[in-house]
Amino acid sequence: MTTLSLIQPTGRLTLGNLLGALRPMVERQADAFYGIADLHALTVRHSPAALRARTEEIAALMLAVGLDRSTLFLQSRVPAHAQLAYLLECTAYTGELNRMIQFKEKGRGNDATRTSLYTYPVLMAADILLYRAEQVPVGDDQRQHVELTRDLALRFNATYGPVFTVPEMVAPAAGARVMSLSDPSVKMGKSNADETGTVYLLDPPDVVRRKVARAVTDSDVGADAVRHDRAAKPGVTNLLEILAACGGSPAGITTYGALKAAVTDAVVGLLDPLQKAYADLADDAAHVRSVFAAGEHRCREVTGPVLAAAGSAMGLA
Ligand code: AMP
Ligand code: TRP
Repeated sequence: MTTLSLIQPTGRLTLGNLLGALRPMVERQADAFYGIADLHALTVRHSPAALRARTEEIAALMLAVGLDRSTLFLQSRVPAHAQLAYLLECTAYTGELNRMIQFKEKGRGNDATRTSLYTYPVLMAADILLYRAEQVPVGDDQRQHVELTRDLALRFNATYGPVFTVPEMVAPAAGARVMSLSDPSVKMGKSNADETGTVYLLDPPDVVRRKVARAVTDSDVGADAVRHDRAAKPGVTNLLEILAACGGSPAGITTYGALKAAVTDAVVGLLDPLQKAYADLADDAAHVRSVFAAGEHRCREVTGPVLAAAGSAMGLA
């Protein structure tokens, strides 16, 4: 069962990325391709130096979390992605792209929106279809893009012959939606300006402690103040879910102070080995580069024949 997913290097990775994306990836590494979507990071205003730094950081973090049995790659180093994206632009309809929620929210109506933000879902479809991936683990915000990928695969196959595998989205396990510590109604995201509500994977223990200590709880402090209730107590519920996801237990915890101390310990305990592995890898950039170079070689071998089959089916000589 071929699995594929990419992470966009548009910010520093967060605890949400770890629990919602990286950990599920570590659990399915057989026949898996995991990439860094650097071409996607060019769809919005960006700084070239920051993009390079974020890309290097994410590459080392992917190894630090234990993704050492998958094929790892940088999207821009595998030319077939951009090439198949063009062929799929000749399959996708503007009507479909006009309906993409992310484009509507992030770019429509602004004259300075990059054209690539509009065609972004087609590049994502190319990422997936090139590997004939059957499973695509992503968060719920990507559901519409995976649906479009399925529609494009079905249309292409019906029009030109059976070249592509129709993929399925794999939703993360329940509780894998980590909310901001400062506003539990929004997702803890790497592109948010919300620094205090976001735990980054490379935050040192004292920073984690400070952020958790300032986390929004709720005003009641009665005997059952610490309980799971997403509607009435979203802040406390988020902390309880983080605690459980990091391997901690709520047994015996009755006060917000004790809950925050337990969450801090659990998060620091989860991040500590990862940060140590990252520090070792940061001293050995050549190792990270060689792992990605080997992955990219494999990706070119896998994607070349699929790109050729698509072009040939469309009538390219
Ligand atoms: P993003 O950071 O939005 O580019 O997402 C990269 C991956 O991490 C996607 O698979 C997301 O679904 C996942 N992810 C991002 N933020 C969270 C979060 N707060 N909770 C759980 N998963 C997340
Ligand atoms: N668009 C995805 C995100 O923002 C990243 C991505 C790019 C991706 N290409 C992909 C995810 C292919 C899965 C498969 O998170």
